[in-house]
Amino acid sequence: MSSDQPAGRPGTTGTDEAVIRFDRARKEYPDGTVAVHELDLEVREHELLVLVGASGCGKSTTLRMVNRLVEATSGRVLVEGRDVATVDPVALRRRIGYVIQDVGLFPHRTVGQNVATVPELLGWDRARTRTRVGDLLELVGLAPATYAGRYPHQLSGGERQRVGVARALAADPPVLLMDEPFGAVDPSGRRRLQQEFWRIQRELGTTVMFVTHDVDEAVRLGDRVAVFRRGGHLEQVSDAVTLLARPRTPTVAELVGTGSTVRLLSIGELTAQDVGPPRAGRAPDGASASDGMSGSDGTTGGDGGPTVALGDRLDVVLQALAAAPDGVPVTAGGAVVGHVTADALLRAVRRTVASAQPADAGPAS
Ligand SMILES: Nc1ncnc2c1ncn2[C@@H]1O[C@H](COP(=O)(O)OP(=O)(O)OP(=O)(O)O)[C@@H](O)[C@H]1O
Ligand SMILES: [Mg+2]
Repeated sequence: MSSDQPAGRPGTTGTDEAVIRFDRARKEYPDGTVAVHELDLEVREHELLVLVGASGCGKSTTLRMVNRLVEATSGRVLVEGRDVATVDPVALRRRIGYVIQDVGLFPHRTVGQNVATVPELLGWDRARTRTRVGDLLELVGLAPATYAGRYPHQLSGGERQRVGVARALAADPPVLLMDEPFGAVDPSGRRRLQQEFWRIQRELGTTVMFVTHDVDEAVRLGDRVAVFRRGGHLEQVSDAVTLLARPRTPTVAELVGTGSTVRLLSIGELTAQDVGPPRAGRAPDGASASDGMSGSDGTTGGDGGPTVALGDRLDVVLQALAAAPDGVPVTAGGAVVGHVTADALLRAVRRTVASAQPADAGPAS
């Protein structure tokens, strides 16, 4: 399995200790709108939890209760075991990164200065700050020599989003809140950002609460996905496969509805058990049809035919099979280890569905 793929990744949490916990948290705005209804929800250490649901269902309100941009009307929100209502909001926000759709970069500060914002507030010395800024710009794929001195208006939308992510990560906050962070980016740029962000999150182990209304983004990124219904009702919290294969309520079914099989393809992975023995006559160069999440542009093998690798997403495998109906060689570490056919792909889809939790344990699980 390649290391940059979300599906089937090994348990991310060494522990089940909750970093963020909503305890019957409710938000009723002064005009009587109930944005969040008695919410019980946990985000575990190192977990990437995605909130998804239709517009107005309370996702942003939920997120903003964590850093006290919104105060709960009743109930509690705990961060690292402390009720946020008892924590100074400024101190709280220095420990919690926050990324929003329009990023909110400071227009008169360079990229480097933007990323340095929180380290400067925390009083880091200049050398440490400069090193950190360089490392983070590298991490999000913006060469510091090119980008550190530019101003936000000299960047593309996707580059600005990356700076927003780098800035939020600068002081290595244990918790990161992201509200539609890639919403302004075109679909292919968005897919790339998702992939990079996913890799960075794994690498840093940051606990993330991520809001989107895009189900595909939710199932691709989330260790678990929480589905909300209007009025701030939590409908289901589960891993992506369970969500797609076993929606618990009509709202969830409707949300994941059309295309849920295709989505399963995009999160399931090709494993050794799906693959038959190698067949003679093909000598691919070991290139894979995929490069992980961004895959699917059909790199070809040495004789011009496609190959796939163990760990590739099933949608990548499907694409390769569409071009080679007799099946495709499967590689691992550059060597051909087997052969996959359309029947085998179907079995892999069924296996992915079967791996869903049989009985979803309910919203608080
Ligand atoms: N300051 C406010 N005063 C009154 N109602 C508000 C306020 N902010 C949000 N709301 C209402 O609370 C509900 C939840 O809003 P929220 O912004 O949390 O939704 P959302 O799920 O993030 O939606 P979207 O996907 O459109 O961003 C909506 O009905 C919204 O109109
Ligand atoms: Mg919102």
